[in-house]
Amino acid sequence: MGDARVRVELGAVPETALWTLYHRAAEARQWGGVLEDPRAVELVDRIDYPFEERFGPGAGLQARLQGVRVRCFDREVEDFLARSPRGTVVCLGEGLETQYWRVDNGRATWLSVDLPEAVALREELLPPEPRQRLLACSVTDPRWMDEVDDSHGVLITAQGLFMYLRPTEVRDLIAACARRFPGGTLVFDAVPRWFSRLATEGKLRSHAYQAPPMPWGMDAGERSKLATADPRVSEIRDVLPVGGPGRAGALIAAAVRLPVLSSRRPSVVALRFADRDRRETP
Ligand SMILES: C[S@@+](CC[C@H](N)C(=O)[O-])C[C@H]1O[C@@H](n2cnc3c(N)ncnc32)[C@H](O)[C@@H]1O
Repeated sequence: MGDARVRVELGAVPETALWTLYHRAAEARQWGGVLEDPRAVELVDRIDYPFEERFGPGAGLQARLQGVRVRCFDREVEDFLARSPRGTVVCLGEGLETQYWRVDNGRATWLSVDLPEAVALREELLPPEPRQRLLACSVTDPRWMDEVDDSHGVLITAQGLFMYLRPTEVRDLIAACARRFPGGTLVFDAVPRWFSRLATEGKLRSHAYQAPPMPWGMDAGERSKLATADPRVSEIRDVLPVGGPGRAGALIAAAVRLPVLSSRRPSVVALRFADRDRRETP
């Protein structure tokens, strides 16, 4: 990574990638954190942006929650690469995620899809390595699917993305993935409905930052409805967080277990799509 500081100004939705980067790096800096991510720490130091002024001090529970979400995705990618070492990992809305440097196995292919301004920034700050490719394309435009080689298996991740799409876009995207990638898996996270409502009413404020609208929300207890997006959705799995050490870890573990909170918490879901043989059975 180069040394010169890079001034960054982004529109409201791509800017959310700075929020996740900042909290991920904060968790990586935290003693006893759940995440090792030196690349994210370097990146925050390199970007000329008023992180603390906009997003607050960046430590504590917020950072832990971010780290826990990231670990859910990392575990899914690690498991996929253990089964399909030469597979393709497609990262939708990847922003400035540094997952490649945390979990790559030296053989897989990576495709990153994001909006043009986010991709331009990623290209400058995290230039792609030989097995990585960047594509400037909205995830709602099926063009990105033509770029995916799924001959050795495919895992599609959408971390911190679906909440910024409209409900019909989420449904159509799930259905299109089920159609195009038989045997593939899609992992994504969802904010609960109450959270989506607050964001959309402009009530999610902290420090000098107001989160953009989040039109799509899904309570964790609703995940079985995802099967209605397409009959090829063959498995729906709740990817449970591991809270990590300390008080923050204990709080997260309790929230997942308590029924009243559990059904309305943020969630990470893995959808598996029926493979070609099963799909073609009448
Ligand atoms: C909250 S950030 C998450 C970034 C990264 N996945 C992470 O977890 O750090 C949301 C990302 O989704 C991207 N995004 C939002 N809408 C998109 C769309 N329609 N097509 C492609 N990317 C989109 C944004 O540009 C941004 O990079």
